[in-house]
Amino acid sequence: MKTKLGKMCGHNATLFIVLSLFLILFCDTTSSECMQLASCMCSLPDGHYYNLTSLADAEPLFDNRNNWTVYFHPCTNRPIVIGNDTKTCGGNGVSLCMKNNTEVLNMGTVQETHMKLTENNVLLFEIHHNNTKSTIIIFCNRVDNKTSFTLDTPIPDPKNFSFRLMSPYGCAIQPERGLSTGSVLVILFFISVGVYFIGGIIVLKALRGATGWEMIPNHDFWCKLPSLVRDGVVFTFNCCRADSYERI
Ligand SMILES: *[C@@H]1O[C@H](CO)[C@@H](O)[C@H](O)[C@H]1NC(C)=O
Ligand SMILES: *[C@@H]1O[C@H](CO)[C@@H](O)[C@H](O)[C@H]1NC(C)=O
Ligand SMILES: *[C@@H]1O[C@H](CO)[C@@H](O)[C@H](O)[C@H]1NC(C)=O
Ligand SMILES: *[C@@H]1O[C@H](CO)[C@@H](O)[C@H](O)[C@H]1NC(C)=O
Repeated sequence: MKTKLGKMCGHNATLFIVLSLFLILFCDTTSSECMQLASCMCSLPDGHYYNLTSLADAEPLFDNRNNWTVYFHPCTNRPIVIGNDTKTCGGNGVSLCMKNNTEVLNMGTVQETHMKLTENNVLLFEIHHNNTKSTIIIFCNRVDNKTSFTLDTPIPDPKNFSFRLMSPYGCAIQPERGLSTGSVLVILFFISVGVYFIGGIIVLKALRGATGWEMIPNHDFWCKLPSLVRDGVVFTFNCCRADSYERI
């Protein structure tokens, strides 16, 4: 009775561990979000990351076209003075500032900026300020060491602006050393499986003098597993078919 119970617990624990590992691995590989770590840094689940922090030390990026003048200072806010105007953009500093022939507009601060990766793996800064939205698409420039910033024209409407930032800092950086969470889990999984089977075989052989298939720990369970899976598949299949018959 006691051994039977012990075996059952063993089965449940094994199943639980296997299921949890599959769930963790599955969730880990399906999310491709770039988790924002700092105002100009985000990291991907596979360990690659983006770091544009160097742009914080540079002068604000600048563009001038279609009667608009734009200054962009990524990563940190700073008071931006446009041209000969004594007017600054937002008293305490801003990240994006624009001016047309009539107005100087604060387009948002670092606190209003989100760094993200779209479904199509396009990296961007999105700045929401009041009711304006600025999208700054970040391109990786490996050709030269230059950073450039341009306003996309024509401007679709005065509440939506889009820009291009081309920079060597826009490239994904490979993690220098260490393993990603996923790899560590996979390695741990195989080590556990190895310890479970090899350790189990040694213990069962030494303590119980088991031979052949009996040396495999929980061999009843592992022998039954394929038929259990088959039963499960058959059950699901029959269930769905019965369901569709009912509907007809
Ligand atoms: C990101 O870049 C900044 C500026 O070059 C550097 O000081 C910092 O160490 C970098 N961070 C990482 C995690 O690479
Ligand atoms: C820029 O402003 C000038 C003078 O106000 C105007 O003639 C011109 O059409 C404007 N250009 C654009 C692209 O809006
Ligand atoms: C937001 O924009 C509206 C209209 O453009 C303006 O009246 C309001 O003062 C702005 N609010 C802030 C916090 O800038
Ligand atoms: C300047 O920008 C403001 C705000 O978007 C807009 O209301 C105004 O018409 C613009 N002026 C010119 C000359 O484009």
